[in-house]
Parts: sequence; C-alpha cells; structure tokens
Amino acid sequence: KDYVSIGLLGLGTVGSGVVQLVKNHQDELVHQLGCGVKVKSILVRNTEKERDIQIGQTFLTSNPDDVLQDPEIDLVVEVMGGIEEAREHITKAIQAKKNVVTANKDLIALYGPELQKAAVENGVDLFYEASVGGGIPILRGLTEGLVSDRLKKVMGIVNGTTNYILTKMEEEGQSYETALKKAQELGFAEADPTADVEGLDAARKMAILARLAFSTSVELDDVEVEGISKLSLEDLHYGQKLGYSMKLIGFAQVDDHKVEVSVQPTFLSKSHPLSSVKNEYNAIYVQGEAVGETMFYGPGAGSLPTATAVMADVVAVIKNLLLGVNGKSAVAPRYESVLKSPKE
Ligand code: NDP
Ligand code: HSE
Repeated sequence: KDYVSIGLLGLGTVGSGVVQLVKNHQDELVHQLGCGVKVKSILVRNTEKERDIQIGQTFLTSNPDDVLQDPEIDLVVEVMGGIEEAREHITKAIQAKKNVVTANKDLIALYGPELQKAAVENGVDLFYEASVGGGIPILRGLTEGLVSDRLKKVMGIVNGTTNYILTKMEEEGQSYETALKKAQELGFAEADPTADVEGLDAARKMAILARLAFSTSVELDDVEVEGISKLSLEDLHYGQKLGYSMKLIGFAQVDDHKVEVSVQPTFLSKSHPLSSVKNEYNAIYVQGEAVGETMFYGPGAGSLPTATAVMADVVAVIKNLLLGVNGKSAVAPRYESVLKSPKE
C-alpha cells in the first residue's frame, strides 16, 4: 500500500495539530515508514462548524461508525476527550481490531489497564504518549529508555494550564481569572478547566506515570490531590519576596516497597531546577537506581507539541502494522511488580 489510512475522533486543538502534522510532515513520515499516512475521516460534534484548518479530501462526520466500522481504517486516533463516550468508541475500535492512539488521560487514568488488556486480547496496540507531558516523550522515556532500571521517584510539573497561570500571576501580576482565560484561549486548558485548577488533571497524569514507572497498579483515588484555586496573588508575591516560586508539583515515590502519589502546590526555592519551568512548560524529574537523576522538559500542552506525541504513537503503530506485531510491543505496562500498590 502507498499509504495507511487513519481515522480521527475529534478535530479540536490536538486533532487539528495532528491533521497539520500529517500534511506538513508527510515527507518525514514516508521516510520513516516507507509509506504515507492519510487522514481518511474525522468524527466531530458539529460538521457545519467553521474551522480554521483545511482538511482537503478528508471526510467530516458526526456518525462514529463512519470511523469505527470503516474496514480501510487500521488506526483510530481519539482526541475528542471526555470519558464515557470516548471509552465506548475506543472499546468498539479495539473489538473491530483497530489500533488506538489516544491523548485522553482522563480515560487512561480510570480505564487504562482494562483497555490495555482488551487491546492485547484483540492483537492491537493502545498507545497514549500524549496523555502526559504534551510534547515531552516521557512515557517512552520510562517504558523504553529507562526500562532496565529500578525507578525510585518521579516528580515534576505535569499541568501546563496551572503552570501558565502561576507564571503569569507571579511575573506579570495578572489575576487568576485573567491568566486562566488566556490559558483557555491558547488551548491549554481542558474543556472544563476545573480539572486543571483543582489538580485532578495532574493527579490523572501522576497515576499514569506511577503505574509505568513502578509497574504496579495505581488508581486515581490513590492520589492525594490539592489544586491552585485557593492561592491568592498576595501568597505568591510574599513567596517571591522570600525567593520562592509556587509550582503545582506531582510526586510519586517508592517508600518501603510501597508507592505514594500526590499533587500539591509547593513553594520551591528559585535555585530549584523546577522553579525555572515557566508558562505551559512541563518538567518531569526521574530518579532511578542505575541512571541516577534525569529530567524531561518541554511544552506540556498546545496543538502542535501534543500532536508530535500523538504522531510518535501513530508511527509506532504503523511500524508494528508493517511488522505484523501489533498488541505485543512497548508502552504496555506489566502492572505486577515486587512493589506494593498504594492500596496494599
Ligand atoms: P477540544 O475541545 O479542542 O476538541 C475536541 C474535539 O472533539 C472537537 O473537534 C469536538 O467536535 C470533538 N468532540 C468532542 N466530543 C465529541 C463527541 N461526543 N462526539 C463527536 N465529537 C466530539 O479538545 P482538545 O483537542 O484540547 O483535547 C482533546 C483530548 O486531548 C482531550 O482528551 C485532552 O485532555 C487531551 N489533551 C489536550 C491537550 C491540549 O493541549 N489541548 C494536551 C494533551 C492532551 P467539534 O469540533 O464539532 O466541537
Ligand atoms: N489541560 C492540560 C494541561 C493539557 O494544561 O496540562 C495537557 O495535558
């Protein structure tokens, strides 16, 4: 075949980035894969809506089956968000033996293990690199780059919206409301930004990171969570005067064979490497027995950065398709380990 056909569920901030990358980086894709990638159809809520993005011959539909039941589509990319509908569509795609790539941390934090099991049983891939850290290749960093190590600690800034708000409040004296509105306009915030500002988005990402880092089961309600909505400009300015910067920090570590995971606003000294992470940028510090200390840094949200992570998964799925090994490769955690999960 000259190209592999993919279907998208969603054409918002991330979906538009994916369409743009497929179009503008087609040469790189052909070079890597030996064949092209074509977005055949896209599910949206409203097919009549005016859109900034040019989609050429791609078919826009509001009927999920146009994507999920199309025999020409080998790979479904879910970038619509939400939980129950996305779960239904992904389950249907997997049952129809289609590989799935998703950016949906809400879904993976709650149903990742169940969906992964279904994917393996159906011989398809389920990859979700974009669910944590936007454009930072952190999941492959953990599951491939550091796969032989015993990891001890994962901590960092994993929510772009709150980091953007805190940066604008501290450095430009913007109000919480103004900074949040701007983060929404820039496409960083979730459809309901409560998940960002109350720390739930970061908690979802920390649950995913902790599972992969420690190969043990971590549920969302194992994560202790506190957000930033109660912080005032006065609190932040007071910290600044004393040489501290406020960050929403996710923390996961192994203590006495048991995993602990939390998200909380934390004052960091300005000499701390994480305090120089500004705006929508994320940074994840990983400590392993053999590797020592490593840090992953980059844009944690936004259209094209997130789309690069989605496309990394798309390329991985297509390489597996060409080799006939879908459902057997990495980013599939073992979920059993010598470590106790937080519940044990
Ligand atoms: P948007 O709200 O910008 O886009 C959502 C898209 O999905 C829209 O095209 C919408 O259609 C479509 N859609 C939503 N619900 C339905 C439905 N029930 N049926 C059919 N179509 C639907 O979301 P984002 O692109 O920002 O986010 C998508 C996913 O990526 C989320 O899971 C998010 O958490 C995740 N993510 C987002 C990042 C970001 O920076 N924005 C970064 C990392 C992950 P229509 O256009 O007609 O409204
Ligand atoms: N709302 C999320 C954030 C998007 O601000 O980090 C990226 O996952």
